[in-house]
Amino acid sequence: MTGSLHLNQLNDHAWVIDFDQPDSKANVLNQKVLEEFDALLEKIKNLKGVRSLFIRSKKPNIWIAGADVNEIAELDTPEDAAYKAKLGQKIFNHLNSLPCFTVAVINGACLGGGLELALSCDYRLVTNSPSTKMGLPEVKLGIIPGFGGTQRLPRLIGLKESLAMIIEGRIISPKKALKIGLVDDCVEPSILESVMLEIDKKVDREDYLNNLYKKRSSFSKTLQNSRFGRALLCMFARKRVIARTRGLYRAPLTALDILQHTGYHTLQKDLDMEAQAFGKLAATAGAHHMMDLFFKTEKLKKRKRLAEPSHDTIKNMAVVGGGVMGAGIAGVSVQSQIHVRICDLNWEALAKSRGLVTNVLNKACKTRRITKEMFELFRYQTTYTTNHDGFQKMDLLIEAIVEDLGVKSKVLTDLENKISPDTILATNTSTISIDELAKNLKRPENFLGIHFFNPVIKMPLVEIIAGKDTSPAVIETAINYTRKIGKTPVVVNNCPGFLVNRILLPYLNEAVYLLEEGFEIKDIDEAMLSFGMPMGPLRLLDEVGLDVAYHAGQILEDHYGLRMAMAPSLQKLYLDLGLLGKKGGKGFYNHSSRKPVPNSAIYSYLQPSEGNQMRPGKLPSKIYLQHRLMLVMLNEAGRCLKENIVSDEDMIDIAMIMGTGFPAFRGGLMTYGRDLGNERIKSFTQQFYESIGIRYKLSDYYH
Ligand code: NAI
Repeated sequence: MTGSLHLNQLNDHAWVIDFDQPDSKANVLNQKVLEEFDALLEKIKNLKGVRSLFIRSKKPNIWIAGADVNEIAELDTPEDAAYKAKLGQKIFNHLNSLPCFTVAVINGACLGGGLELALSCDYRLVTNSPSTKMGLPEVKLGIIPGFGGTQRLPRLIGLKESLAMIIEGRIISPKKALKIGLVDDCVEPSILESVMLEIDKKVDREDYLNNLYKKRSSFSKTLQNSRFGRALLCMFARKRVIARTRGLYRAPLTALDILQHTGYHTLQKDLDMEAQAFGKLAATAGAHHMMDLFFKTEKLKKRKRLAEPSHDTIKNMAVVGGGVMGAGIAGVSVQSQIHVRICDLNWEALAKSRGLVTNVLNKACKTRRITKEMFELFRYQTTYTTNHDGFQKMDLLIEAIVEDLGVKSKVLTDLENKISPDTILATNTSTISIDELAKNLKRPENFLGIHFFNPVIKMPLVEIIAGKDTSPAVIETAINYTRKIGKTPVVVNNCPGFLVNRILLPYLNEAVYLLEEGFEIKDIDEAMLSFGMPMGPLRLLDEVGLDVAYHAGQILEDHYGLRMAMAPSLQKLYLDLGLLGKKGGKGFYNHSSRKPVPNSAIYSYLQPSEGNQMRPGKLPSKIYLQHRLMLVMLNEAGRCLKENIVSDEDMIDIAMIMGTGFPAFRGGLMTYGRDLGNERIKSFTQQFYESIGIRYKLSDYYH
């Protein structure tokens, strides 16, 4: 017996290596574990009469979660990183060359380096347990598989299926893995050991490998893996990657280069190329930023509780207001076995709401997150009402009606009388102060903000907003609920706009000021797309809705004053011209065609402004636009930190990436700010302040 690995004998000629890392929920492949593994392989090689070697995990839900990201993040030079990859490859080659029949027995998550280990075995046996999943998610950390994954996977399943797994980091189910030939058998967890014994008894290694060779050489796989097939498949995939990321993320493009230019040499030569490419990527700033983000989210998951949660779990909940957000919240919650009741003003509104919930469940079905049977069950578990009967049985009630302080306050006070003293009352308001809404409540300790982002099914972030009276136990329950439904909660203190909208709305507003200064719609949006934003700010305003942006902007201006003064043209376009953005067909863009085109008709209605004439230095316009838009966000973020709205910079990074799509390769807003440097933040802000005024007042955070 060694530290993390246990070698056991199954019968006279079958052995098992069990992975069981002490003091850890997961098995990860760090240097020490890999060395232990290598030593056991050597031992097996030298034992007489070994016919089969099974590789298993003793962890209940995880087989091997991957290589140790901490060790990868420490690699500063391409040479060190390539060397590290080669060490792993050498050990997996050792496994691959054993004379006995090697079987990966996978029950639980088999990811990254774990899958690369499994690919180096002769045979893969998986269970159909819901926790069993397989994938190579390295691109999500800004790197590529470096322990042979880019080589062994296409050789086994063909290039076509490998592309989605390697360049998108797609995780697949055991059923899919069986279908595409990634695994050889899929069984119930309860019969795993008897199947292992059967494999040991029945499978003849020579026969099996001959058959495998035939399977791998099928016409379709040979074609896909040929030089021509590779060039063609990679060309289409490259186009898709560039359309999606504008080529700003290096990992998928590097993976494509490797996949295109390997596969027709010896395995060893191709592995060397993989290690070199891995080395170059792992040492880049982009990869380090993405790995840091992984650490930040892990840290967030391990945060210390403020108190014991007020509820063990949320079983029954109601959503009041079944519009875009309410239906989204309901559709996502019901998928986590929560009974949801939606309340709206009338049956017409509820019919729409039912359609929206069905859309959410349909999407989950299409992406195979739920089965068709679950789809039916969840539709049945969502019920609809126009009154508040039965609300006293609810564990949680989320209000998602119109964004109006007066209306919301009245509805919340009314609802408080219909629920039990234990029910948690929450609002999904995007801007209104929680303390303001709590003013007339009898139990403010049970009230808080649970702010989802649109579209709920897609956006991972939820802001948990604590009012001054919210009890810590209620905050903890809200955190557990949002985690249960698969979201990432970030706790923020109360202020108008909370964290994300308080930072994002000034950015959107500033884009309209830039328009007034004479910049064109396409140039402003293009500048931010090339920065890495998923959408330009004016296009985003159209998506949000000019009405919503106007009302939210008013709330922020009322509270924060001239610093957040709304661009006059935004008011004009909404109030005078009645433009609503995408939902009305027109805004900054014309949405009548499939690809929205800038709405040039608005230029004549814009309120001219002079800021641009004071443009400092000779900054190219794209860079100037990026600085103007980023600095309003950075300064507001600095104020949020100074006012303790959020605990630290990492939380802002996570919130902006998960709530607004801020480019992950930049590591988040505050990491971008650190890369820009305090001196530059100060000097640019000062120059903008001199020409533009109060909107660019430097936050004390950077003094
Ligand atoms: P929506 O207009 O799509 O839906 C509001 C629903 O509330 C409508 O179906 C309406 O009939 C219903 N309603 C109004 N008064 C009601 C009452 N007294 N009882 C029951 N139902 C009532 O609005 P949306 O976009 O879903 O927004 C709802 C809330 O979520 C707002 O506070 C908004 O600020 C917030 N929010 C909106 C986001 C967005 O992007 N749309 C993002 C995050 C938060």
